[in-house]
Amino acid sequence: MIEQLTIIKSAIKANVPLLLEGHTGTGKTFTIMKLAQEQNKTLHVINVSGELTVDSILGQQTLLDGTIVWRDGVLTNAMKRGDWVLFDEMNTALPEVLTIINGVLDDTRSITLPNADNERVEANASFRFIGTQNPSSGQYAGTGRLNDALLNRMIRVTFDYMSPTDEIEALKMHTKLKDKSIAGLVSLAHHTRTSSYDNPLSTRDLVKMLRLREHGNMSIKDATSLILRDKYSNDVYDELYNYFSEQMNALEQYSEGTNEDPLEHIQKEFKKLNELRQELVLERANMKDQVKIEILDELLSQTGKKPESFV
Ligand SMILES: Nc1ncnc2c1ncn2[C@@H]1O[C@H](COP(=O)(O)OP(=O)(O)OP(=O)(O)O)[C@@H](O)[C@H]1O
Ligand SMILES: [Mg+2]
Repeated sequence: MIEQLTIIKSAIKANVPLLLEGHTGTGKTFTIMKLAQEQNKTLHVINVSGELTVDSILGQQTLLDGTIVWRDGVLTNAMKRGDWVLFDEMNTALPEVLTIINGVLDDTRSITLPNADNERVEANASFRFIGTQNPSSGQYAGTGRLNDALLNRMIRVTFDYMSPTDEIEALKMHTKLKDKSIAGLVSLAHHTRTSSYDNPLSTRDLVKMLRLREHGNMSIKDATSLILRDKYSNDVYDELYNYFSEQMNALEQYSEGTNEDPLEHIQKEFKKLNELRQELVLERANMKDQVKIEILDELLSQTGKKPESFV
C-alpha cells in the first residue's frame, strides 16, 4: 500500500485537490500545516462550519474611511496570491459554499464575484486546495456527505491512527521529558484503538496529557486520569486507568532491570507485533479452512494487544 504522506505529496505536486478523511485528532490538519511549512507556502486554514458564509470566503463590500470598498475574502485572496487553502471539516459547509468550491476545483480553477461587478478570478498556478473531514457516519454532529460531483474532483485519502512506533516519534516533539511516560501513553492509546472502545484516544489526547504534565505541573498519572475522566464513563475510566497504571509499573520494572531505552524497546516490540500481524493477515487471506480462519482471527486479535514483555 502506498503511504498516505506519499499520496498527499504527489497530489499536491500534481495539483489534484485532496480530501483527507479520518477520525478526530489523527493528524490531518497537522500534516498539511507541516507540509506547507516545509515547502515554504502560506497556508490559510478555514474552519468550516454551518456559520461560514459565502461572503467571508469570496469577499464583500465594507466601509473604509467613509467609502465603500471591496475586500477580498480568504479564498479569493489565496487564489490570487497562489497560497494553499485548507478547508477544515469540509462536510459541515453550507451547500452554497460547496457550490463555490465545485467551481474552484474544476479545470477552469476560477470563481466569479457577483458582488464585485462579476469579476472573474482565476487561481494562480501555485494555488492548492485541501479539504479535511471526519467520517460522515453519524458520530460527528453537523457532518453530511459531500455530493458525488465534488468527491469526483478530489482524491480521498483515509487517515488512520498512527502506528505506535510512529506515534512515539511524533510525541517526542511535544515534550522535553522523553521518558517512559510516552511509551505508557502510546500503549494505552493503542489498547483503546484495538480493543473496540468507543471514542479511542487520539494523538491529540496524548499531546494534551503531555502538556498538562510539562506545563501544568501534574504527574503523568494525574494528567492521564483527567483526560480519561473527561472522555469516558466511570466503568471504562476504571478499566483504562488500571491498564495505564499496570503499563507504567511494568515499564518501571523493565527500566530497573536493563540499560535499554524503554522507548526504543517498546518501539521494537510494537514493530514485531505489527510484522506478525501483517503475516497473519496475509495467511488469513489465502486460507480456505473455516476452523483455521477462526484460529487466525483469535491470533490477530491478540496482536492488537500490548507487547509480550509488558503483560
Ligand atoms: N505527525 C505528527 N507529529 C507530531 N504531532 C502530531 C502529528 N499528527 C498529529 N499530531 C498532534 O496531534 C494533534 C491533533 O492533530 P490534528 O489537529 O492534525 O488532528 P485532525 O485529524 O485534524 O483532527 P480534527 O478532525 O479534530 O480536526 C496536533 O495538534 C499535534 O499536536
Ligand atoms: Mg483538523
